[in-house]
Amino acid sequence: MVQRLDDKIAIITGAGSGIGAATAIRFVEEGASVLLADINEPGLVEVAHQIADEQKVKIQVADVLDESAIAACVQAAVDTWGRVDILVNNAGLGNNVPLADATKELMDRIWGVNLRAPIFFCKHAIPHMRPGSAIVNVASISSTCGIPGQAVYAPSKGGVLQLTRQLAIEYAKQNIRVNAVAPGSIETPMLWGDDPEASKPLLDWLLDKHPIGRFGKPVEVANAILFLASDEASFITGANLPVDGGYTAQ
Ligand code: NAI
Repeated sequence: MVQRLDDKIAIITGAGSGIGAATAIRFVEEGASVLLADINEPGLVEVAHQIADEQKVKIQVADVLDESAIAACVQAAVDTWGRVDILVNNAGLGNNVPLADATKELMDRIWGVNLRAPIFFCKHAIPHMRPGSAIVNVASISSTCGIPGQAVYAPSKGGVLQLTRQLAIEYAKQNIRVNAVAPGSIETPMLWGDDPEASKPLLDWLLDKHPIGRFGKPVEVANAILFLASDEASFITGANLPVDGGYTAQ
């Protein structure tokens, strides 16, 4: 049976948890080989264990704040499989802090992981991509909507969306497609935060804002990423696909 990502080579960042882990599992189910990058080694090991196909999975412990670690991830995929067909820029750091508590250190970390890392991954991966390859960036409803407490996070996600459009235009002639998904609130460790009790008022507010009446599951975002990464989306580039239960339709 032909699968949707047969023979594709993919790099997925932030694959040790949440949306990245679900994406890794769906990609291998659809025939891809995957290089899974994350700073979270136990998470990567657990996801590789769930996939249970050594030929199709390689894990790479990497801090995406470090450009040389990013270059090493790309090189590891190329050394193992010879090229990169799909890049999923998913690693991310959430945060909800009042503007008054914003610091340079926090900005460097949030913007470094959420925005600078996708730029560097694209820089290093694109030279190994053939026509027909695809990049999917994980943006957010925060890319386009204001949400209380996201003065540091939201600009990073706005940048991810603009990076998507920018590179879509720059690489269209080479037939390298670049798209984004924009999740609403998804049930992952990022959503609950370090202190779920303290997050409760914001979570209640967010739940009320999702017309579908619930938060999303990681696999529901993974399925959207899978579509945009696959040849089924061959005429789609520069798009932002909301996966938000109607949040941004209001
Ligand atoms: P998560 O916290 O479950 O997963 C994020 C992964 O990124 C973790 O495994 C973490 O170790 C990794 N990561 C963080 N910093 C890193 C670094 N310096 N180097 C390497 N890896 C690093 O969160 P989730 O929800 O799966 O997030 C995935 C993406 O989805 C993020 O870009 C996030 O901003 C985005 N998103 C999530 C939403 C949600 O409600 N969960 C909503 C909208 C967007």
